Amino acid sequence: MPEPSNHPQHLLRRYLVSFRVSKIPHRFTDVLIIGSGVAGLSAALAASDDPGIEVLLVAKDALEETATIYAQGGVAAVIDPEATGDSLSSHVKDTLSASDGLADEEAVQLTATEGVVEVQRLLEMGANFDREPSGKIHLTLEGGHSHPRILHRGDTSGREVERVLLDAVLERPNITILAHTFAVDLVTRSGEVMGAVLLRPDSELECAWARRVVLATGGAGRLYRETTNPKVTTGDGIAMAFRAGAALQDLEFMQFHPTTLYLAGADRFLITEAVRGEGGVLRDGAGNTFMHRFHPLGDLAPRDVVSRGIVTVMRERRENKVWLDLSAIAPEKIRARFPRILEILRGFGIDILKEPIPVRPSAHYSIGGVKTDLEGRTTVPGLFAAGEVSSTGLHGANRLASNSLLEGLVFGHRAGRRAAAEARGCAAPEPFSVEGSPTSPGPKAPALDLNDLTVSLKSLLWLKVGLERNGPELSSALKQIASWVPYVLGSDFHEVPSWTLQNMLVTAYLLTISALRREESRGVHFRTDFPRRDDARWHKHQTVTRDDLRRPGA
Ligand code: FAD
Ligand code: SIN
Repeated sequence: MPEPSNHPQHLLRRYLVSFRVSKIPHRFTDVLIIGSGVAGLSAALAASDDPGIEVLLVAKDALEETATIYAQGGVAAVIDPEATGDSLSSHVKDTLSASDGLADEEAVQLTATEGVVEVQRLLEMGANFDREPSGKIHLTLEGGHSHPRILHRGDTSGREVERVLLDAVLERPNITILAHTFAVDLVTRSGEVMGAVLLRPDSELECAWARRVVLATGGAGRLYRETTNPKVTTGDGIAMAFRAGAALQDLEFMQFHPTTLYLAGADRFLITEAVRGEGGVLRDGAGNTFMHRFHPLGDLAPRDVVSRGIVTVMRERRENKVWLDLSAIAPEKIRARFPRILEILRGFGIDILKEPIPVRPSAHYSIGGVKTDLEGRTTVPGLFAAGEVSSTGLHGANRLASNSLLEGLVFGHRAGRRAAAEARGCAAPEPFSVEGSPTSPGPKAPALDLNDLTVSLKSLLWLKVGLERNGPELSSALKQIASWVPYVLGSDFHEVPSWTLQNMLVTAYLLTISALRREESRGVHFRTDFPRRDDARWHKHQTVTRDDLRRPGA
């Protein structure tokens, strides 16, 4: 199924806002970091290790409101090889094997090795992970891991990581923090990043000029109707980087988590894979186990296999969910390991000590993102990216569980350190005005119902760009998104929800076109019309840039 020969030109507008230097406040910093999750905080700490470097860290919501704090399972790292029989090479092997042939081995080696150092640093900073009675750190197992190597704190591991990093950031005299501050666009001159336009909490625009900028804005799970992600993950960083000219990589690989609470009216709360690691079993509506039909590792198969197994069973049985049975886990273990799940489910009248949990898959993790090298440098000079917004090649076509907090620690640190070193050697940017008009302005959007459009976009992606895709559905999704582009991206707005929708539309278009172009099935990208992996044509990463969409017929 061919993609359209012309792409909507409003996708290519350079800025969502205009400003005149004489009319708005400015500030200057050495390193601007956008995002306060594991990657942004790690970058801020590494950059501010140099006392001569001023860091400005901004976040669009409260500082803690990140995907990071919702992480349940934990952080994967080989910290106790003797006791567990584990090794770095085994972590590398598992990561490569989950990636379905597409991970970059250097990125994997580096993450496994430096990840141990970063986790030790977290422990020295006071991270309080669960321990065994002997005092040793308790390591658990998750899907795709051949050894127990996940450090965790009950089922609120990410909250602990965020707490420790944020406490350290708050103590640094050379880090300035602005919460509830929305980054609208990166500012570039002659193709080089010079800072960003921000909307402050008082609704005034401000320009933060910076010698170097690190994007740590997280993923794009909120593009989907069904998702484990919090409200901040709307793909802003991906859209901003695209507008600034950066190459985006592997956007088609959206990972779906197999077990999300499925109850009418309930938030799609994640039920951690660690539940299956501790003995939880998936069953269909008649109580039959089914995962061994799909993979020798059964319930602990890589999560794309589990997600598709669930969807197949739901389809066969015409049911809208399956059940996660915890009866093989001792009640005291459930209380100790999964206190938050126990409490949340109690709120919905489900006692997980006695009853199974209704679950089904939902969008969870953006594998693709802004292409970077191993120092976090993007293809745009002056711009770095780290964490879920980035694509280092670490995950290939499928991310191994609990490897992304690790990635945020390792590459956040690398990007922050490198950005600070580069900032030391370059001149401060000269302020200039930014012209933000659409490429060819359309009519002002009359009474746009943003909420309706946002819901429609999320449903469209869930139904047509979801766990199973095919050419005709992807083409029709692309056409539908393109039809919304002129009046959403062709209009000028001055508030966060509208800019967010503009970013979501851009990211959705690019994700869909990437999924349409990759005519094979690999990792989390499953095409029913191309059900096999095709190494001859597709053993490669895929990038998309503004220039690609500018060429007629590209
Ligand atoms: P985030 O933590 O998402 O932070 C993004 C930051 O960017 C926020 O501060 C946000 O305000 C800011 N931001 C975004 N846009 C803008 C803008 N326009 N202007 C200003 N600021 C902006 N991974 C694991 O390894 N182990 C797990 O157990 C695990 N469990 C998970 C459970 C859940 C429910 C979810 C959703 C994810 C889980 N993950 C897990 C994945 C992992 O949590 C994320 O990949 C990781 O935390 C992303 O970190 P980050 O720093 O890149 O982004
Ligand atoms: C989980 O706890 O199942 C999520 C782990 C992850 O996404 O890495």
